[in-house]
Amino acid sequence: MSVVIRATQVIDDPRLLDLLDAGERERADRRADPHPFITAHALLRRLVADETGVDPRAIDFQRRCATCGTDRHGKPHVVGMRDVHVSVSYGDRMAVAAVTNLGEVGVDVEDLESADFDGFGSLTLDATECAQLAGLQGVALLGARAQLWSRKEAILKATGHGLVVDPSQVLVSAHDAPAELLEWKAEQHLPGPMRVSDLDVQHSDHRAAVAVLTTQPLTLRLQRG
Ligand SMILES: CC(C)(COP(=O)(O)OP(=O)(O)OC[C@H]1O[C@@H](n2cnc3c(N)ncnc32)[C@H](O)[C@@H]1OP(=O)(O)O)[C@@H](O)C(=O)NCCC(=O)NCCS
Repeated sequence: MSVVIRATQVIDDPRLLDLLDAGERERADRRADPHPFITAHALLRRLVADETGVDPRAIDFQRRCATCGTDRHGKPHVVGMRDVHVSVSYGDRMAVAAVTNLGEVGVDVEDLESADFDGFGSLTLDATECAQLAGLQGVALLGARAQLWSRKEAILKATGHGLVVDPSQVLVSAHDAPAELLEWKAEQHLPGPMRVSDLDVQHSDHRAAVAVLTTQPLTLRLQRG
């Protein structure tokens, strides 16, 4: 299976709702703008269905929080498919889903606007990473920030910690170098070796990355909708 990624723009298509289960429809209903959620979860269902041959409506996705143990939020998994690892990410305009049998996976897509605030560096980056961004301005700076941020979030989604781990304690390679987890300084346990890759989602105002807990080099199949 390798790592299969599907990326799409957020769309408003009522037929997508038919793919979701009752719990997902309820969660969509609670959102001011349900379309990013609906697009993302329909995308994930179709991707897993295509890779496993199971009807997209029959797939039982559940969540589990590594911190408090609840099934009301946290990392998603597919019931009854232990070797199928999944992740999903979405914003106002884009959604990305990932599936693999290599190991626990995290995927993340970031809008450049999400990296456009004072204090981004001190909240999310290590001093070395901040120094590497010195001299960048405008879109180049926002693009570099969003790329680093997407790598860190993908890593923390693969481990299941999410932002319970301070992202400034997760050091990644420079934005213009191949994506890599360089150092894990967080007190929480890193479950194993991590492979990371940037994803070219072909939207100049978005950056994305995928991370997998595996020793094997990542072979990616990126499908854009
Ligand atoms: C995971 C996280 C980084 C994602 O942030 P985001 O940029 O807002 O959202 P994205 O669109 O990229 O990803 C959302 C998806 O991440 C997944 N996700 C949520 N928590 C996750 C975790 N701990 N590990 C891996 N994936 C997670 C879910 O599939 C979620 O989609 P859904 O809520 O529609 O089911 C952030 O939500 C987070 O840190 N959550 C954990 C916080 C936590 O555990 N607190 C302790 C509670 S006891």
